[in-house]
Amino acid sequence: MLIMPRIRFSKKHIPIFYIEGTGWLDREWYPHQILGLISQLVEATQWRRIDKDHIEYRPWRLNRIVRDFHKLYYKSMTRTWGNTFWFGVPVAKCPLDLWVYQEVMFQLKPDLIIETGTAKGGSALFLANMCDLERGEVISIDIAAVDIRPQHRRITYFLGSSTSPEILRQVQERRKQANTCLVVLDSDHSKVHVLNELRLYSNLVSKGSYLIVQDTNLNGHPVLEHFGPGPWEAVEEFLAGNTDFIHDEHLEKFYMTQNPLGFLKKIR
Ligand SMILES: C[S@@+](CC[C@H](N)C(=O)[O-])C[C@H]1O[C@@H](n2cnc3c(N)ncnc32)[C@H](O)[C@@H]1O
Repeated sequence: MLIMPRIRFSKKHIPIFYIEGTGWLDREWYPHQILGLISQLVEATQWRRIDKDHIEYRPWRLNRIVRDFHKLYYKSMTRTWGNTFWFGVPVAKCPLDLWVYQEVMFQLKPDLIIETGTAKGGSALFLANMCDLERGEVISIDIAAVDIRPQHRRITYFLGSSTSPEILRQVQERRKQANTCLVVLDSDHSKVHVLNELRLYSNLVSKGSYLIVQDTNLNGHPVLEHFGPGPWEAVEEFLAGNTDFIHDEHLEKFYMTQNPLGFLKKIR
């Protein structure tokens, strides 16, 4: 229904609107009803109808919805990402991203997954359980020791900094035995550290596989505006002039991802 901007006033000076297809609305409108009409009009500018069943949001509106939901999700940590478990083990990831991980793993069937940043081990266990359905092993590296990490025959935990020569030597040794290798960077989120990891670990990713940089949403992309240069900025610098990797935005298909710009595909 198209609402035309035609209006007349009743004897009591209350506006009466003309609605296309309906005629003059022969009733008196009160301020709250007028506000309701205005808000409907405003809302109608936020989407366009493609066909009878399909409505598409205008890009500015869509971006705002996604950004607002992302901020809501992030700020509600105790309810959302700080309260997410894989088989009882805390995992600091959005379930939409975990689903993307699952799809990537099904497509690649990696022999080896290298994860930097273990924390409690929820993501390592998730990756290992996905491997249970097909194949593969997981190396998970963390600078901090945690006693209660899940034990699984496919997971090897390395203790130390992801960028230390000793850890890298061990990782490279294991990498030699694998063909397809997927890398997930989820440790120290400062730009300097992530950029260092990107340079050291990108060589280990096999062609056609992914280098996933977690938490690129920090520093205002769109959360934690005052974080300072972080994973997003590291990816930007890494990709500048890099012809081996491309940003695969198809993996951001669920709109909400903690890794915007963070799914990097090795193309050569
Ligand atoms: C965001 S948490 C990892 C979350 C985990 N991957 C998950 O999804 O549940 C970051 C982890 O990185 C670890 N870390 C910080 N600096 C590191 C470094 N230089 N090398 C390896 N791990 C590091 C921290 O101890 C922390 O456990």
